Amino acid sequence: MQAQIDQYTTEINAFSPANAEELEAFRIKFLGTKGIIKDLFEQFKNVGPEEKRTFGKVLNQFKQLAEAKYNELKEATDLGLKTQDLGLDLTLPGDGFAVGSRHPLSLIRTEIIDIFKRLGFVVAEGPEIEDDWHNFSALNFPEEHPARDMQDTFFIKKNHGKDDIALRTHTSSVQVRMMENGKPPFRAIMPGRVYRNEAISARAHCFFHQVEGLYIDENVSFSDLKQTLYHFVQELYGEGTKVRFRPSYFPFTEPSAEMDISCTICKGAGCNMCKYTGWVEILGCGMVDPNVLENCGIDSAKFTGFAFGMGIERIANLKYVIRDLRLFSENDVRFLKQFQADII
Ligand code: PHE
Repeated sequence: MQAQIDQYTTEINAFSPANAEELEAFRIKFLGTKGIIKDLFEQFKNVGPEEKRTFGKVLNQFKQLAEAKYNELKEATDLGLKTQDLGLDLTLPGDGFAVGSRHPLSLIRTEIIDIFKRLGFVVAEGPEIEDDWHNFSALNFPEEHPARDMQDTFFIKKNHGKDDIALRTHTSSVQVRMMENGKPPFRAIMPGRVYRNEAISARAHCFFHQVEGLYIDENVSFSDLKQTLYHFVQELYGEGTKVRFRPSYFPFTEPSAEMDISCTICKGAGCNMCKYTGWVEILGCGMVDPNVLENCGIDSAKFTGFAFGMGIERIANLKYVIRDLRLFSENDVRFLKQFQADII
């Protein structure tokens, strides 16, 4: 029996069918209901107990070999037949596929995040549907105060009070969540989409993207704010970009400022991007109002901090000279494919 199996094994290993018929003949010969394997198992019944032990294993291995060979050849011939049927030539080179590019806003967001990460800031996120407390009240917007009109809000539920629900108008709401849920020091940036009820035009949209930042610790001063943002601008727009701070107002910061940079297009000489002033505004910032710290359970006698917020469409406009905000959300491939994914 062993000699027989050895012989069949050599035969199976060497078997290479020229067509599907030969393969079928192979199946019938070895694996068919009246085939060799069936026959060997019949013979096996009659061997003595001593031989049973050795041959049981040998026989099973042989059966597996025959089955594996058959399945492998079957798959190959099926494929061969199919490609013949379809008239495919598998030796032809394949179709190329287009590599996509990153959305310009993703590129900018990643770049901004990277700069702040190198300064030790972490990324924090929060919900886009917010309650009155996190979007307004905790941030020192008094109820019915005109400051709330600074940001035209999309309300989901409006009772003119604490249980209003709205689409967040800024990611400052994430700062509140962070301060409420942790203990200082905080050093974080909050990227995210925000919504404002504005008519859509080249210069305004009903949603846009922000990166806000928060730094709370003992002895944080306005000079820390200035130096951090100055460093950020040098990294993003290149060394030599000038900055200036103008006094401003936000309910949640005191003092507050807006930061301009020297126009990235004309380098300060005057062009229509900067309306011939040489400066463009890029962000709002200030020292976190002590009321906000107290609202979030932080001791304002011990801790101080700064916050800032920027719209990243604006940053992208200046970097890529895109003059119509609508391009960012229309997903026109001719626009999108111009941006290289050099930052992954
Ligand atoms: N939240 C402000 C806005 O959306 C930006 C800002 C953030 C200003 C932090 C100052 C400090 O307009």
